[in-house]
Amino acid sequence: MAWNGRHFLSLADLNHEDMVGLMQRASHFLDAGDRFEPSAPLAEKIIANLFMENSTRTRCSFTIATKRLGGGCFDLLGETSSASKGETLVDTALNLEAMGVAGIVVRCSQNDGPSEISACVGIPVINAGSGTCAHPTQALLDAVTLTRYFGTDDLSGQHIAIVGDIAHSMVARSNVIGLTKLGAKVTLVGPADLLPDDLNCDTSSDFDAVLSKVSGVMMLRVQFERNAQVGENYREKFGLTEGRFANFQGAVMHPGPMNRGLEIDDNVANIESSSHNLILSQVTSGVATRMAILEHLIG
Ligand code: CP
Repeated sequence: MAWNGRHFLSLADLNHEDMVGLMQRASHFLDAGDRFEPSAPLAEKIIANLFMENSTRTRCSFTIATKRLGGGCFDLLGETSSASKGETLVDTALNLEAMGVAGIVVRCSQNDGPSEISACVGIPVINAGSGTCAHPTQALLDAVTLTRYFGTDDLSGQHIAIVGDIAHSMVARSNVIGLTKLGAKVTLVGPADLLPDDLNCDTSSDFDAVLSKVSGVMMLRVQFERNAQVGENYREKFGLTEGRFANFQGAVMHPGPMNRGLEIDDNVANIESSSHNLILSQVTSGVATRMAILEHLIG
């Protein structure tokens, strides 16, 4: 693997080979199943999961990944930390480093939060989702899920639509970078006011026209907690409804959590809906992908 980065902050820092190397290692961990890694590369190391925003998938999968690699970890959550008394993100991280943790996994509302921490500490920092800017471990696990589904090393020749609330998504920007680096064409789909024009790829507000051309769709959650506003016809125009799903044979993804009945119909979201529903496969890939990242940076 050519990548020697100390931190995992953005997929923009990795090249194609770096990504494929991590994805191959993640695939190895997936093939190994729920086993603990025998070489225990994180033995005697403690990782801090610093989550200033809520999370289910990312936080739990980092915990499981750390333990499968033989390490220990603990969670520091925004509402129960001294951040609630005004302590800054960087001061919080410096205190964790002073306690001897081997790395910091951080989820925060500030776009630059993880990189600001990385500039101040001497231990690896992993971006577990920052603001509306980046969620690079999610994008890498999505790539792992897709390549295993397509049976390929990368995503050359694939065309993936990212659909929904692009503007408030931490996933969309990382996935545009990651999918493009792996050779896929990406089209962003959504209402005009949720479609930023700075992502350097095709955009459309005609979901049906795009759906007929793509080999996979990533449905995104409408982020009401970030004040996203959508019209009453959002589901009809941009939802993966049962009607649309019935005529679509490509991969169906959603990073979660889902607004069932809005961006994705209940019966489409259910894993038994089809063999090309990859939503829970993404979650499984998340543990293996985070094992690969932790092993590379800290192991
Ligand atoms: N996909 C994702 O980041 O989910 P969580 O917010 O639950 O971690």
